[in-house]
Amino acid sequence: MKFNDFNNGDTKTMKSLNDKQSKFVNACLDKYGKDTLTIHELKEVASTFGMKYAPQWLVKNPANKVGRALFKLPTDGEITETTKSVAPQTQKIENTETKHEAAYVVSSLTGDIIPEKDPNFVNFGDYSSVKSIIASKKFYPIFITGLSGNGKTLGVTQACAEKKREMIRVNITIETDEDDLLGGYRLRDGQTVWQNGPVIEAMERGAVLLLDEIDLASNKIMCLQPILEGNGVFVKKINKFVKPALGFTVVATANTKGKGSEDGQFIGTNVLNEAFLERFPITFEQKYPSVKIETKIISNMLESENAKDDEYASNLVNWADIIRKTYSEGGVDEIISTRRLVHIAKAYSIFKNKLKAVEVCTNRFDDDTKQSFIDLYTKIDSGVSVEELMNQNNQDEIADEVEADEDII
Ligand SMILES: Nc1ncnc2c1ncn2[C@@H]1O[C@H](COP(=O)(O)OP(=O)(O)OP(=O)(O)O)[C@@H](O)[C@H]1O
Ligand SMILES: [Mg+2]
Repeated sequence: MKFNDFNNGDTKTMKSLNDKQSKFVNACLDKYGKDTLTIHELKEVASTFGMKYAPQWLVKNPANKVGRALFKLPTDGEITETTKSVAPQTQKIENTETKHEAAYVVSSLTGDIIPEKDPNFVNFGDYSSVKSIIASKKFYPIFITGLSGNGKTLGVTQACAEKKREMIRVNITIETDEDDLLGGYRLRDGQTVWQNGPVIEAMERGAVLLLDEIDLASNKIMCLQPILEGNGVFVKKINKFVKPALGFTVVATANTKGKGSEDGQFIGTNVLNEAFLERFPITFEQKYPSVKIETKIISNMLESENAKDDEYASNLVNWADIIRKTYSEGGVDEIISTRRLVHIAKAYSIFKNKLKAVEVCTNRFDDDTKQSFIDLYTKIDSGVSVEELMNQNNQDEIADEVEADEDII
């Protein structure tokens, strides 16, 4: 849109903010919750984008300057560009004053947010207990800890699906903060609006809040403290007290128990605040499924991918079981999760080659580990029994120890 400045006849063009500019405006609103910022505040935000100075398109534009070193953000999504006129203008031109509307609360979630049932899901471990808690609609936070890829997230999702409970999943990272969890100001259709974060949304809807991989968090999640006590929370940015509706509860999952990962297996996990952990009344320790259950999971998966092969399912699960036992005894650094077995089953349905499926899905491990995993699989595939292999493993270990002792002598 174009219009002329009344006073000097300069031409002003209204241009929509580009992506980068919108991101900058959003970041300012998120950080300060107001639309008029000092040059220092702008510089602060600029530094988070790796810039040394406040953006020139903002500070050098007279339309944005509202006081000494004070700038108004173009929160309507448009910026005025001024072009100097050569001749004075005489016509009266339309007045296009910028509109600033009050922020309002918006929800990003519409409709039904009950997860879908997974036909391949097999119930095991503490699933029934998790389901009972979710069905009770009581506020009763649960902490589920267990090694990677053993169905922690899927179990909670399926309990909600079965009990027809709404669920909101938040994947926690080290960057997750109050703004991501409770909400913040966003630029939407040229307006500054408040948008509820997932936690507020779950509280207001009475939904199950799944805080996935909570042990990746920093102490920026401490804003959850009052929420984990079942009380409401005061959202200072909108000056509102939010009370949880009936049915709201929290489930957190993690690979560790929130005490860090000493062996370094779970890179990025952090030690969680003790008072924070204390607010979870119960903890479930999720193990890998038993051989019988896991065989059912993999058989179902192969069948659903039109590659039914019960013998292959059984071999894969026995293979993973030996590797897990060896892992827990410290004999190997890597583990085969249920998730990886599912990857292999899918690879098999595509390549129709058992060994190739194992190979492509173990390529991510270092060469020695990968080779030993493939050798083990080949033996199982050729009919060597699990007992024989376990004995052989023990003998290999004894041989290794003897060799080590001889080296010392
Ligand atoms: N009980 C189960 N029934 C069917 N499939 C399962 C089951 N448990 C795990 N799986 C398979 O394993 C995959 C990984 O499960 P999920 O994502 O729940 O693991 P997780 O324990 O949350 O892992 P992470 O610790 O890495 O987050 C699922 O996508 C599914 O394919
Ligand atoms: Mg998970």
